[in-house]
Amino acid sequence: MSDPSLFLVCLSVHPRHPGMWKMLIVVMCVALLGCLQAQELQEHVSIILLGATGDLAKKYLWQGLFQLYLDEVGRGHSFSFHGAALTAPKQGQELMAKALESLSCPKDMAPSHCAEEKDQFLQLSRYRQLKTAEDYQALNKDIEAQLQHAGLREAGRIFYFSVPPFAYADIARNINSSCRPGPGAWLRVVLEKPFGHDHFSAQQLATELGSFFQEEEMYRVDHYLGKQAVAQILPFRDQNRKALDSLWNRHHVERVEIIMKETVDAEGRTSFYEEYGVIRDVLQNHLTEVLTLVAMELPLNVSSAEAVLRHKLQVFQALRGLQRGSAVVGQYQSYSEQVRRELQKPDSFHSLTPTFAAVLVHIDNLRWEGVPFILMSGKALDERVGYARILFKNQACCVQSEKHWAAAQSQCLPRQLIFHIGHGDLGSPAVLVSRNLFRPSLPSSWKEMEGPPGLRLFGSPLSDYYAYSPVQERDAHSVLLSHIFHGRKDSFITTENLLASWGFWTPLLESLAHKAPRLYPGGAENGRLLDFEFSSGRLFFSQQQPEQLVPGPGPAPMPSDFQVLRAKYRESPLVSAWSEELISKLANDIEATAVRAVRRFGQFHLALSGGSSPVALFQQLATAHYGFPWAHTHLWLVDERCVPYYNIHPMPVHLQQRLCAEEDQGAQIYAREISALVANSSFDLVLLGMGADGHTASLFPQSPTGLDGEQLVVLTTSPSQPHRRMSLSLPLINRAKKVAVLVMGRMKREITALVSRVGYEPKKWPISGVLPHSGQLVWYMDYDAFLA
Ligand code: BG6
Repeated sequence: MSDPSLFLVCLSVHPRHPGMWKMLIVVMCVALLGCLQAQELQEHVSIILLGATGDLAKKYLWQGLFQLYLDEVGRGHSFSFHGAALTAPKQGQELMAKALESLSCPKDMAPSHCAEEKDQFLQLSRYRQLKTAEDYQALNKDIEAQLQHAGLREAGRIFYFSVPPFAYADIARNINSSCRPGPGAWLRVVLEKPFGHDHFSAQQLATELGSFFQEEEMYRVDHYLGKQAVAQILPFRDQNRKALDSLWNRHHVERVEIIMKETVDAEGRTSFYEEYGVIRDVLQNHLTEVLTLVAMELPLNVSSAEAVLRHKLQVFQALRGLQRGSAVVGQYQSYSEQVRRELQKPDSFHSLTPTFAAVLVHIDNLRWEGVPFILMSGKALDERVGYARILFKNQACCVQSEKHWAAAQSQCLPRQLIFHIGHGDLGSPAVLVSRNLFRPSLPSSWKEMEGPPGLRLFGSPLSDYYAYSPVQERDAHSVLLSHIFHGRKDSFITTENLLASWGFWTPLLESLAHKAPRLYPGGAENGRLLDFEFSSGRLFFSQQQPEQLVPGPGPAPMPSDFQVLRAKYRESPLVSAWSEELISKLANDIEATAVRAVRRFGQFHLALSGGSSPVALFQQLATAHYGFPWAHTHLWLVDERCVPYYNIHPMPVHLQQRLCAEEDQGAQIYAREISALVANSSFDLVLLGMGADGHTASLFPQSPTGLDGEQLVVLTTSPSQPHRRMSLSLPLINRAKKVAVLVMGRMKREITALVSRVGYEPKKWPISGVLPHSGQLVWYMDYDAFLA
């Protein structure tokens, strides 16, 4: 309302015919107010699309702008659209005309009306080259001249950056210095990801942009927030508060899956993908945003951008830090070849960039403690589909047979709520609620849907769900353009939100930097190769496959073309991986051996080495192997430094108040103890290490004892302190049913390479004398040690 005196006129009433006059005046006033309002809202918006001839613009942005025009032009706004790029005017104009050719109208619009609207839109859209500071100044002048010429008031300007991030700073500087609208009009700059590569680079970019724009002027797009099913998460939770209040927590939710599977691969985009990979490309942004919408405490007002942001940030604060074991990663098999071709890399180049990742996330707050959130995405998978699935716990046991179960009542059917983002067998966005949960309420823009007969989703027929889809499907970018136009900031990523997300993901990305992803053939051929499980806060592939799959000859390998690269080291099996994976593998093998031994003999005799290499193994065994039969396990020592002991079955190195005195017969005592308790003095498993000089246990090169002969336990001398040692002898070690040698770290590279070439020479390299008579020897080496 611009003129307060109008109110006074409207409120004064003629004294002689108060009733009639009152009515007349009210009618006139309403009409007059309407006119004034319409006049006042005749405001002009200039939209500048930078990168107007690029892929995103062609695929989504021009169509989204056309939709915005159709929606808003009748509501008192006028528009001008400036398509901009670096290309020279003539060529740029042609390219832009091509991009605009395929604009389409909503299905219910008459063709003649559509043609008219399109024509008007095209008349309002102009190409312009924006390259130099002068180009931006000219743009500003043109906008001002147009406003003046048409007598329009300026509402604001939208600059849509559909350009690579390295171009952001220049453009931002130019807009800030010469294209800001006059007082009273707003500026909105729209930015597309990637917003950095890790926490540090995101922070740098944010600081740079922050020097040109206010926070409220920046609209960082995550197009998943414009997907109708995602945009429905908070309104749905709000509208169904009553039903969900008691269910939306750790007592009732079994787990949450946030998934985005794709069939396409990265061909044609490897220069981008090599730098980002699936975690940065999809998990850090799209899936994390969905996670926060599912997990946040519901604000009282779900359309308050400020409240939504605050609650999102609370989720970030409660996220448990990720570790390497929180994720599994894969790479489709032809990826490295595509990278070599597209980026001209040498034949020997193998990328470590993951194209598939599954991550286990925990939220340590009262609501979600203990509930696994699984985030997963990948290229070259068997189907294209996206969803957030909340699976509820079900402890009911139904007595009557299944044929009597009615979907709406039976507590024995799965209970789940799915925000189906798109594609898949359903083919559209949807919200699905198991009928045995509750009948949901949705806004009128959503309708109950029917799928093709016989369709099953998430283990249940579609008929088991209350299923809703949008009355009118809309592309995510078009939804977001409308939100930008209306200044709805709740659908965009603020700087705080962005940095919180990078803060969460960066440690995992760093820890995975050298992890070799599991190779998968792609599509349906992946079979069960990428299936994964989780327990004790870790996530791992279900199928053990420490050996890397390598393709056989032929251009497009099928699973049958794959062969397993079986590694050997000194004629015995070799398990090789990066250290963390290697430790997991060895720990699993030890547990499996233990379980087998206890099952067969009722007990498990395990002899362990000391030193620094196995520390991580012991931690792993102690903290993450709940199934280990400790109660039936006897722990023995492979060797012992002659220092006081406090352990179980310790070596008797400390007798008569002195250490390792020959006369005290400690070695013989230990040998007798072993003979008495360990059948045939044959340990089920002996864990050894390998020293940089080739020693193992405390058997050093040139040792006069322990390398052969009858003695089971010997006293030896170490070149380094403490010099006096007691050690199992090679003959005793070689009686074991299984011997594992763990070798880790760069320090071991040389000896690893050397020992790989030598024969049986225990005098020079005692480790070469480890050859179990009838047991098995397995080498466990991390890549640092092995890739010499
Ligand atoms: C983009 C990613 O953000 O999202 C692409 O960069 C991915 O790699 C795309 O393909 C998926 O989006 P949509 O809308 O097809 O699910």
